[in-house]
Amino acid sequence: MPFINQPINPNIPNTICYLNGEFGPLREAKISVLDRGFIFGDGVYEVVPIYYGQPFRFDQHMARLEKSLKELRIPNPYSKDDWLKLVEQLALHFAQTSKQNIDQSQQIIYIQISRGVAPRDHIMTPDCVPTVFMMANPFKPVSAEIRLTGVKCISAHDFRWEKAHIKSTSLLGAVFARQISADVGATETIMFRGNYLSEASSSNVWIVKNGTVFAPPKDHLLLEGIRYGLLEEICKSQNIPFSLQKISKQEVFDADEVLLSSASKEVLPVSQIDDKLVGLNTTHPGKPGPIYKQLHLAYSASVDKNCKRN
Ligand SMILES: Cc1ncc(COP(=O)(O)O)c(C=O)c1O
Repeated sequence: MPFINQPINPNIPNTICYLNGEFGPLREAKISVLDRGFIFGDGVYEVVPIYYGQPFRFDQHMARLEKSLKELRIPNPYSKDDWLKLVEQLALHFAQTSKQNIDQSQQIIYIQISRGVAPRDHIMTPDCVPTVFMMANPFKPVSAEIRLTGVKCISAHDFRWEKAHIKSTSLLGAVFARQISADVGATETIMFRGNYLSEASSSNVWIVKNGTVFAPPKDHLLLEGIRYGLLEEICKSQNIPFSLQKISKQEVFDADEVLLSSASKEVLPVSQIDDKLVGLNTTHPGKPGPIYKQLHLAYSASVDKNCKRN
């Protein structure tokens, strides 16, 4: 009995994607319903920002992908050079279909690898052929207006699992977490495990106190964003003291500045958490502070230095 009512969904963007060895229309890409990514969320992903047509911090994204795959015991289907070629080809396709000059194109490349297709069984099926999927989306930069005001966040208990260091496609915990802030029109949900800061639903969280930048230690309770290493480098080069240590709820609420970081948010100031303005005892209550401004300038300079072609 064949399927007769499987129309192409018009909500899917009219762009090119990569699936298992070939490029083709995203609207027509199909995977098996027995793909373990679909059945179990048994897969990993990466989100690589593209500036001026070039991937930013590509090596670091590939190292994290390798780490996530290892945790799930999925073989990496490609070498780093092969990944780079695929990302460049996809970025070029996307620039062409969206009528952008590749040298000016800003994109977000999504890479997903699932364990592959197998009869449903919880055991990590050996000898599966991984399913590889990639798509490009427009990079929607945070507006200059929002960068001037900062964003509102909500605090919540971190109810996700204890393998948050894996960039896994099992994201229901993150979906629930994000919805808590979305329901009240806030930008992110900042989460705490007991009394200690972990991260936000899809961003890392940083605080600034008396000129020092603090972030929680890199462990299994949070995803080490690619901006972890980058902001550490930037702090070093800007002579800003930097420390990784456990951060209590009280310390977050008493911070001079609170920041979010992710591929799409870059580094973003938080103006308010729940009903409390950030930096109440500073000269900039509820407004982006000086360390944010310094970090953001240096972030943009790093993007230009690494991606801009003269
Ligand atoms: C849970 C979580 N933490 C942190 C981040 C930030 O990671 P990156 O800086 O690599 O974008 C993300 C990004 O999506 C995330 O999902």
